[in-house]
Amino acid sequence: MVKVAVLGAAGGIGQPLSLLLKGNTTVTELALYDVAPIVVGVAADLSHINTPAKVTGYKGDDELEAALKGAHVVVIPAGIPRKPGMTRDDLFKINAGIVKTLATAAAKYCPKAFLAIISNPVNSTVPIAAEVFKAAGVHDPKRIFGVTTLDITRANTFVSELKKVDTSKTSVPVIGGHSGVTIIPILSASGHSFSDSEREALTQRIQYGGDEVVKAKDGAGSATLSMAYAGARFVESLLDASVNKKSGVKECTYVQSDAVKGLEYFSTVVELGADGASKIHPVPTLDAHEQKLLDAAIPELKSNIQKGIDFVKGAS
Ligand code: NAI
Repeated sequence: MVKVAVLGAAGGIGQPLSLLLKGNTTVTELALYDVAPIVVGVAADLSHINTPAKVTGYKGDDELEAALKGAHVVVIPAGIPRKPGMTRDDLFKINAGIVKTLATAAAKYCPKAFLAIISNPVNSTVPIAAEVFKAAGVHDPKRIFGVTTLDITRANTFVSELKKVDTSKTSVPVIGGHSGVTIIPILSASGHSFSDSEREALTQRIQYGGDEVVKAKDGAGSATLSMAYAGARFVESLLDASVNKKSGVKECTYVQSDAVKGLEYFSTVVELGADGASKIHPVPTLDAHEQKLLDAAIPELKSNIQKGIDFVKGAS
């Protein structure tokens, strides 16, 4: 049995993500949870698709335990999205509490599950979940992931468009965190060369690609469909490594890490295995431009991480 629970499954990301997960034949049970009652209808709708996963809907606090029990992977896209002019950190006030509540339930009902956290600000919500798991005495840093995959899909798309190459053959690692200056694309590892102005423009677009969508949706939310695609890819990688026992599965993901001195959490390439993050790669060789990006990201990340930790420890 391979149960995947989606918390926030009725939302803009949750619905298309659940659709894509229903198409993943490794999944045998898809538990869709939300505080919005429509989730039951979303589950009924998806349940008519003739793929193996059995789909069930769970609404409200009382049904959270049943949604989580036995889960192998818990994906969390619950929480409010940005509106124009907002940073991801502006979401902290509401989403920190939502992630804390959901992580508390996961620590109780499925402490061994892999947690894939999409809710922003990811730089802070991952430390929040980790602190909750630590307080419950069930913390395993190899099992808690911040989903930054959308930054990689954006980087691959923008670079392949610029260089007029097949996107499937483009691979740009993106390290650091998941907001503005903390997003560090490693263009030097893409196998392409760039002029200074190309590099500047690409870096800016990858760091602020989310803003393009927020602006275009004009108040109706942020990236949902591309995020669903990226989230489904991340879950597929987790399942390929842990259930299908594929070797060499790698994703850039925001995890507890020793990669950068003084930062408890950081995203680099992570190898996935049966028990989660089996090997965290170090920061790759950086050119001078990328080193500057890393230097700029460190103080911001440090403060985002501390904010998450303090939230659980009661200091904010
Ligand atoms: P949305 O508002 O469309 O959906 C959020 C869903 O969460 C709603 O169905 C809502 O009822 C549900 N929800 C709220 N509180 C809940 C709780 N306590 N338990 C369960 N469900 C709850 O928002 P959208 O667009 O789906 O975005 C969700 C989150 O994902 C936002 O925080 C957004 O910033 C983040 N995001 C992250 C990205 C990433 O790359 N990691 C990319 C894009 C968005």
